[in-house]
This record gives sequence, C-alpha cells and structure tokens, in this order.
Amino acid sequence: MSRLPLAALFCLALTLPAVAAEKEHLRIKIDGPLPPAKAEETYNKIKRAMADGYAPAKDPVIKAYPRWRRFNTAPYLSDTHGNRYANNFANAKAAKAGYGNLKPGQVMPPGAVVVKDTFTVTKKGEVFPAAVFYMEKLAPGRNPATGDWRFVQLLPDGSYIGDTIGDSPEDVAFCFTCHKAMAKVDFLFFLPEAYRK
Ligand code: HEC
Repeated sequence: MSRLPLAALFCLALTLPAVAAEKEHLRIKIDGPLPPAKAEETYNKIKRAMADGYAPAKDPVIKAYPRWRRFNTAPYLSDTHGNRYANNFANAKAAKAGYGNLKPGQVMPPGAVVVKDTFTVTKKGEVFPAAVFYMEKLAPGRNPATGDWRFVQLLPDGSYIGDTIGDSPEDVAFCFTCHKAMAKVDFLFFLPEAYRK
C-alpha cells in the first residue's frame, strides 16, 4: 500500500466524527446576549443533551437535580462560572431550609444540595452543553476549611474536574476562594435578582 491512501484514511477517520458532531450542534440566531425567553427556549432544546453528557458520571446528585425545584426564571449569564448560561436547582432539604432567603448567620442543614448546570452559546450561535457545579452541605465539622460544603465540578462529558472531599480537591479549591465572600449567608450567592422566581 502506498503512503497516500493510508494518510487519507487516517484523515478521514479524524474528520468524520467531527463532521457528525458538527451536524448535531444546535444552532440559534443570536444578536448579543440571549434575552430571557430565548435563553429559556434554548435551554429546553439543549437540556436533554446536557443530561446525556453528564450521565457517564453516574453521580446521584446529577441524576436527580433535573427534578428539583428551579429557582431562576430563565438561564442567566454567569461570568463567574465561565461566562455560561446557568440555572440554579436546590433539593428539598435546601429549599425547605430557605435557599435564596437566608438571614445572616443562618446555615443550611447537612444534606442540602444546590446545583448549577450550564450551557454556552458561541458568537456564531452554536449551543453546547457546559460544566455542571454543585455544593453539598456536609455534617458540622466535616470540612471546616470549606464551610462544611463539598464543592464539585463536572465537565459536559461527565468527567470530574474535582471534588473538595474526593479526587483532585486542588482543582476545585478556587470555588471556596470566591464563595467565602458570602460567609454570612452560608457561602451562598443565590442568583442575579432579575432572574429570581
Ligand atoms: C469568582 C467567584 C466564583 C467562583 C470561583 C465560583 N463561584 Fe459559584 N457562584 C458565584 C456566584 C456569583 C454565584 C451566583 C450566581 C451567579 O451569578 O453565577 C454562584 C453560585 C453557585 C452555585 C449556586 C449556589 C449558590 O447560591 O451559591 C453553585 C452550586 C456554585 N456556585 C458552585 C461553584 C463551584 C462548584 C465552583 C468551583 C468549581 C464555583 N462555584 C466557583 C461565584 C463563584
């Protein structure tokens, strides 16, 4: 076999999946940041693909959160989480304990979990699933260095960036560096006012 066909074959193998993936991309018309209704419509189109992407993690929090209460009216741009469009979900424990409405000094009970899923939209209007973040309240004294919160980040393919009480805690240490600014309300930022339900 001459070298050329082999190289051609190799190229084909490399480009084919890319072409297939390209076809699957959700593409929308955009003109600057998405207005809330458009962001919501886009989320409804992409959330299935987001869940499919996160699924290999087999993470019980990630499996469960789409059925939890959502606290935002539409996805909002979060520049602190990579300039992605984000949603906030809280489990029943966190919702009951007043997530989004904490008075200074109040803290969440152990087992409270808050999730932020995200997607990106490129300048050309291509929509991609993006990282998912969560915080889980641990038992008092379990991890004082992070306010007894566990911080976890996963990539859109379900692989873990890090877990403050598991693998690669150093890769998610930056979470608390920022969240500690909200120490008086249990390290929770909630979400931009205009998007609160
Ligand atoms: C530079 C600051 C900053 C960093 C770093 C950061 N966050 Fe946040 N986080 C915020 C802000 C601000 C919000 C409120 C929503 C918004 O505007 O994005 C928030 C909201 C959240 C929420 C919703 C719960 C709440 O009300 O606070 C979760 C979950 C979360 N972040 C997880 C993480 C994780 C996990 C990491 C690290 C991988 C991380 N964050 C890194 C600033 C930050």
